[in-house]
Amino acid sequence: MWIEGWFDHIFGQKWNPTYCLGALGYYYFWIVSISGIYVYIFFDTGIPAAFLSVEYLTNEQWWLGGIMRSLHRYASDAMVAMMVLHIIREFAFDRYRGGRWFSWITGIPMIWLIIIAGMTGYWLVWDVLAQYVGESTTELLDWIPIFGEPIARNFLAPSHIDGRFFTLMTFTHIFVPLFLLFVMWIHLQRVAHSRINPPRGLAIGTFIMLMVLSLVVPATSQGVADLSVAPSPVALDWFYLWVFPLADIFGPGMVWGGLFIGSFLLLITPWLPPAKKVTPAIVDLGNCNGCTRCAVDCPFNAIAMVKRSDGAAFEHEAVVDPDVCVACGICVGSCPTATPFRRAGDLVPGIDLPDLSLATMREKVDTATAKLEGPARLMVFGCDKALKVDKFRGKDIATISMPCAGMLPPSFIDYVLSKKMTDGVVVTGCRRGECHYRLGQIWLEERLDGNRDPRLRKRVPRDRILRSWASATDGRSFEKNITKFKGDIELLGPYGNENPTEKDEAGQ
Ligand code: HEM
Ligand code: SF4
Ligand code: SF4
Repeated sequence: MWIEGWFDHIFGQKWNPTYCLGALGYYYFWIVSISGIYVYIFFDTGIPAAFLSVEYLTNEQWWLGGIMRSLHRYASDAMVAMMVLHIIREFAFDRYRGGRWFSWITGIPMIWLIIIAGMTGYWLVWDVLAQYVGESTTELLDWIPIFGEPIARNFLAPSHIDGRFFTLMTFTHIFVPLFLLFVMWIHLQRVAHSRINPPRGLAIGTFIMLMVLSLVVPATSQGVADLSVAPSPVALDWFYLWVFPLADIFGPGMVWGGLFIGSFLLLITPWLPPAKKVTPAIVDLGNCNGCTRCAVDCPFNAIAMVKRSDGAAFEHEAVVDPDVCVACGICVGSCPTATPFRRAGDLVPGIDLPDLSLATMREKVDTATAKLEGPARLMVFGCDKALKVDKFRGKDIATISMPCAGMLPPSFIDYVLSKKMTDGVVVTGCRRGECHYRLGQIWLEERLDGNRDPRLRKRVPRDRILRSWASATDGRSFEKNITKFKGDIELLGPYGNENPTEKDEAGQ
């Protein structure tokens, strides 16, 4: 969080690359694909035709072919770098357990596919490095007793490697990324509204960076392969080829063991230990009108809209998949029936969280605000995953924390202000891009801005609302913001001084 805060200062929140590592991975994939198609047009399979065709691109057509080759290589490297950072980030932010295991598990074959795609790419150049990669790969494969004869023998003499072999390698190098794309699609099946495109500024900046690198340090070959000579020394691409030096040092058995144990550990990581059991959201059909908002807003595709089962005059009803639901409460914030103004009967919205029901939330707000005193009484709505708001509680500050800021129905803000329970409202939660449940902060912002249902009513004076997004490391700046806000509220005087002339569009 501290590192991301630092990046916020450099890039601004909107272009902070740490917030869109997965999207950058997709972006690099497209650069690799487009540059790869270009290089392939000029690529010749065969010995030494392959080497010569790549040399032609690099030296004679350097102004486009050479750049494309370099882009192909550097974007591939960047993809590995992004993937590693993405894994570390998802792990560090605990976004891989519970209902989120699916994205984690589907990520693991992607690691293998990316590395295999890169390795086969290096074979195709047919330079000294290709020879080293080819020999090392076949030696590694020969350790697994699946081939009748050692395939490393192919590298004993030039006559053993033919055009068909090259065609097979080219096919693998094209097929594996295509399959990777398919797995990348599966990877996001439980990530609703996933972000697969980085913000434009970041995309342009990244592209310029790759272009500069391609021009300053163009990708080159390392001399044509000669099977009668051992390929040494070679300059390695450490993003893709780290496994071979390991095999040289520790032997193929140890390397295979390490790779399989590593993959196995990654596979069981979401259950080491498993996430705390959560009680999923529940739908109350008596209050659900089938509007679909909760299904659209759920960040994990945990809600399906199905045909009405209770005979009510609506077409659909919401159904929660308890195995996918992570109990973030964002659906509660999106339900039009979740409003604290309701007094007739029990406060039961169409969808609710049993662990923190809307009725309990209202009760907590009522109790906490009743004791407030002073000229600038504040209600702080916070989020369990961000800065802990309880420590800011005081004689003029009441706090309540929810699983996610996105759970807050905007009507709660209207409620505390219009009932004069406080003079101002503070909304806080994870920083933009860092929201633990991905979309809570974005949806709430849109609702407060009037761009997403349910909207904050127009009559609510905006100058009495402070939005101060703060992660666990932002305590000091949050405190400063609150102190300043208190001063502003004191200047405004008690709520009701202003004259609400704007008509409320929602008519609630
Ligand atoms: C080429 C490699 C990869 C790409 C392009 C990629 C892309 C993405 C994207 C675009 C997202 C959605 C981010 C969002 O919208 O918030 C995502 C989420 C995720 N990815 Fe990856 N990913 C890759 C590899 C991996 C790997 C190797 C792992 C783990 C082993 C992994 C684990 C996850 C997890 C846990 C999520 C979060 C899902 C959630 O928030 O519930 N990814 N990935
Ligand atoms: S609490 Fe609601 S929004 Fe959150 S995962 Fe469950 S169903 Fe989806
Ligand atoms: S948002 Fe509320 S009313 Fe609309 S479908 Fe979901 S539970 Fe039903």
